[in-house]
Amino acid sequence: MSRITINSLEAKKKNNAKFACVTAYDASFAKLVAGAEIETLLIGDSLGNVIQGEETTVPVTLEEMAYHVNCVARGLIGEENHPLLIADMPFMSYSTAEQALDTAADLMQAGAQVVKLEGGDWLLDSVHLLSERGINVCGHLGLTPQTVDSLGGFKVQGKTPETAKNILNQAVSLQDAGARMLVVECVPIALGKQITEALEIPVIGIGAGPFTDSQVLVLYDLLGISPGRKPRFVKDFLTGNNDGISGALSAFREAIISGSYPEKHHCFE
Ligand code: KIV
Repeated sequence: MSRITINSLEAKKKNNAKFACVTAYDASFAKLVAGAEIETLLIGDSLGNVIQGEETTVPVTLEEMAYHVNCVARGLIGEENHPLLIADMPFMSYSTAEQALDTAADLMQAGAQVVKLEGGDWLLDSVHLLSERGINVCGHLGLTPQTVDSLGGFKVQGKTPETAKNILNQAVSLQDAGARMLVVECVPIALGKQITEALEIPVIGIGAGPFTDSQVLVLYDLLGISPGRKPRFVKDFLTGNNDGISGALSAFREAIISGSYPEKHHCFE
């Protein structure tokens, strides 16, 4: 596999080839992700939930994100396969375009290759500024965990024709502003498909149906070790896998590439 770039992911999209994405937050798991040839690794602010035991991602700070990005980046030094590293910009670290640039600089210097931010139209100036300065940006639409309270909880987004159209328009605007990738979370299958077809940039889905260019899961969800109620899109790839964690990661990637994950019961109509 060697070193994955956004250009190689765009080429995959053009060739209708899927790729995988998983979160990781430390050097040891980063090495296992690379060993499984998973193409993209997200240092997600979901670390607030799965590492820090917080109820939401809101308390996660920029310093904590940079620390985990650096742990992952160091873990990949000398690895034959190097997934593309996407880092979440944490809550309120990109409330203006200038602040977004400072935050992105910190995360890139810690080892990120792409920065991800949650939201639509209000972010267009920031996305434009970052991409103009040569920083790869990944958008995040649909269910945006940093603003879960204003969305009224962890609910499927874009269920009505109006809200679906709004999300689709925002996806196109983010691409036009310079975003190079997009995460779409918890939307009906039809909307996930429509967004993926409308955009030239790779679209990574989570609870967004089987038609997105890629799927992402939180590492601890795919290993079946996250406590509490499981979201519908989660699948445990570890239980019953004789090759342990490496086997589970490879099975996750193969299931995405072959199209056997997600199944209908993992998706929203
Ligand atoms: O923080 C995270 O892990 C994420 C994914 C769930 C998409 O944003």
